[in-house]
Order: sequence, then structure tokens, then C-alpha cells
Amino acid sequence: MDFSLTEEHIQAQKMVVDFTHKEVIPTIGEWDRKQEMNPATLPRMAELGILGICIPVRYGGQGFDYITLGLVCEELERADTTLRVVMSVHVGLNSMALLQWGTEEQKQKFLVPQARGEKYAAFCLTESGAGSDVANMQATARKSGDKYILNGEKMWISLATKAHHFLVFAKTDTTVTPAHKGISAFIVTRDMPGVTTGDIHGKLGVRAGSTGWVAMQDVEVPAENMLGEEGEGFKIAMSCLDNGRFTVATGATGLIRACLEDSVKYAHERSTFGKPIAQHQLIKQKIAYMQQWYDTAYLLCMRAGWLKNQGIRNTRETSMAKWYATDHSVKAALEAVQVHGAYGFSDEYPVERYLRNSKGAVIYEGTSEIHQLMQADYAFGFRQDKPLRRELPAYDPDFWQAEPETVAGD
Ligand code: CAA
Repeated sequence: MDFSLTEEHIQAQKMVVDFTHKEVIPTIGEWDRKQEMNPATLPRMAELGILGICIPVRYGGQGFDYITLGLVCEELERADTTLRVVMSVHVGLNSMALLQWGTEEQKQKFLVPQARGEKYAAFCLTESGAGSDVANMQATARKSGDKYILNGEKMWISLATKAHHFLVFAKTDTTVTPAHKGISAFIVTRDMPGVTTGDIHGKLGVRAGSTGWVAMQDVEVPAENMLGEEGEGFKIAMSCLDNGRFTVATGATGLIRACLEDSVKYAHERSTFGKPIAQHQLIKQKIAYMQQWYDTAYLLCMRAGWLKNQGIRNTRETSMAKWYATDHSVKAALEAVQVHGAYGFSDEYPVERYLRNSKGAVIYEGTSEIHQLMQADYAFGFRQDKPLRRELPAYDPDFWQAEPETVAGD
């Protein structure tokens, strides 16, 4: 494994840093206070190519590798969690699922506009009574001729009121045992009659982001919009989470860095007992821990990204990166507030926003408890990964960067 970043990695990182420093960091505190998403966020991310960063050029993307996706998520969450959440759902949980499981027609119809940022995408798995316990979902999809009729309500859906495309999981068979074998995946579009959405207000964090619900009442979905095969939905959902969790992990790594960098800066500026607090041993200890958490999270993410680039299954490694990075982003944010003292308790400094934002990620995309169970089950040998009918393709620069016209007819 080579830890050095390529020219392309650095170029992508720099592009995001320029964007966040000029267009996000100066105003994000106000949007967070207003509890609204800046309407410029999605169009600007689209314009910069961020929404299709790791999707092959032939499918409308920028043709970068999966490590670039991670680096971009780290820089986005260094500025604010809400921007990384966009990447988690639009790219990690949706576009990468189309790349892995979609037919060529589905890729042309749905992935291309998503990667170009002309259409926004969301992921509809969770329900009010089915979070960790995915197989207990109540949404149904009944076959009727060449269509499926979808009914149900999905909760805690990022970009619910913004997305044009939804990857929806519903039960095509409610009687089969085990229950996860009855779940199928569908591409649903906002313009389908019977689809309604709304926002959820009053969240602890991610306040400048969009979180909501998606309801479906007798929504007629053409059979060709099924992703994968009937009954394959649970595996598709879990494979999506292998990618979504990578974006969450890399983002949380950026949040740890935000806590570290802001704390270092403040510790130089603030003096107590006749010297900068950076000279106090107990402050040094906090900074040292934050650095340790950042380095460890970064390395775990790099390992997961490297495995993705090689096309090697990484469910365990990604779960470890997600669990570690998100748990430690909460710890880092608590310490950053402590370093800032009373100022950390007010929104005069961003660390109180970091703390509120950090908490969501130890809950969504697999709670820390789910990841602990998974890690223990792997260690005991109770859990083993089975090969999938379609794996996430390994990163191949020739394929990823080829222009559509040069590959026509290949
Ligand atoms: N990829 C592909 N297939 C997988 C897989 C993966 N990563 N993990 C498991 N599978 C397959 C298994 O091989 C197995 O296949 P067979 O049917 O052929 O045997 C099948 O799926 C069932 O696997 P398990 O027995 O491991 O499933 P389980 O019932 O033990 O559940 C779980 C495992 C870990 C609890 C899982 O349900 C889970 O991860 N739950 C958390 C869900 C979650 O993260 N939800 C968040 C949703 S997104 C969100 O937060 C909203 C948002 O907008 C951001």
C-alpha cells in the first residue's frame, strides 16, 4: 500500500479546499443558525464536478479513484458535515450502487445525469420502525404486469426534499424466511405520482443540511427500474453501505482535523496564568490525542480506499474505519470545546457546531453498536463475506478516464 498522494489526489483536494474556504466556511455558521441548506451548495458542488468525482467519465463523472472520493469527503467535512452528507447519499449510497449493480440502460438514464450533477439522488432504506433492523421494513412493492406498486414511508432521508432520484428498498415478498430475502431495490423518481416528501426540523446537528421523509402511495414503478434482481435488495443495500460508510468515515476524519486545527490555533492565541494555553501540559495532552485519532482514522480510511481501488471486498475494513473515525470525531469535538473553554460553549467559534454535527454519524449508516457487533462477529468467525453477483468495480484509470466517444462500440 502506497500512502503518497498522486498529482490527481492533490489537485482534487486543492479544488475542494478553494471552494470551502471561499464559499462555505465564511457563511456556514449563519446557515446552521437558520437551519437551512444554502441553495447554492448543490449547484456549486455539481458545477465543480464533486457530485461525480469517482464516477467514470463515460458515465458523466470526473474519473478519479475511490481514494479521491475519501479525500474530497475529508475536506468537505473539514468545512461542514452537511456537505459530506450530500456525498454520502448522492455518490456513496446511490451513484456507486448504479455503477455496481445498474444495467447499461440504467447507468445512461440515471447515473449520467447524477454524476454530472443535473439530478440529485437520495437513498431510502430507513423507516421509523426499521433503522438497524433493516429486514423489518414495512414498505412493499407489489408486482402488477410490467410495473411494481410501491407503498410505504422512509424516514431520516438525507436530501429527501431536494433529490430527483431515490433508491428505494421495499418488500416484494413479505412471507419469505429469512425476511431479508424478500427485499428488492427500485429507482423511483420524484415525478412519479404518489411520491411526497417533507423536511424534518429540530435536529441536534447537520442543521444546514436537508433531512426528511419520503412517502409512497401506490407509486407505479416500471419493472425496468428495479436495481439488481428481485429479492437482492438487502445485499444491494449492504453493498451501498460499504460505500456510504467510507464517505462517513473519511468525513469524520476531516471533522477530527477541524477540531485539531482549530484547537491548536486557539491554544496559541489564548493565554492563562501568564502563558499561551498551548504551553499547558493538559492542553498538550488533548492535542496529542486529537492528532493520534486523526492519524489512526486517516490510515484506516486509506486502507479501505485502497481496497476499493483494488476491487477487494472491504466490508470489515470500512466498518472499522467508520466506527473508529465517527466515535473519535465525537471525542475530538468534546475536547475541542474544552480547549476553547467558555467560548467553545457559544457559537462564536465553530467547535460547538462540530460537536453537534459529530453526534449524528455515530448513529446513521450503522450505529457504533452495529459496527462493534460486526467486528466481533468477524473476529469470532461468525461472519464471513460471500462473493457478490456484482462487485464494486476495481478502479481502472483507462476505463475511468476514457471519453465516451473513444469507447463507443467497445
Ligand atoms: N454486501 C453485500 N451483501 C452483504 C453484505 C455486504 N456488505 N453484508 C451482508 N450481506 C449479505 C450476506 O452475505 C447475507 O447473504 P445470504 O442471504 O446469501 O446469506 C445477507 O446479506 C444477510 O447478511 P447478514 O446475515 O449479515 O445480515 P444480518 O441480518 O445479520 O444484518 C446488520 C446485518 C449488520 C445488522 C445489518 O442489517 C446492518 O448493517 N444494519 C444497519 C443498517 C444501517 O446502516 N442503516 C443506515 C441506513 S442509511 C441512513 O442512515 C440514512 C441516510 O440517508 C444517510
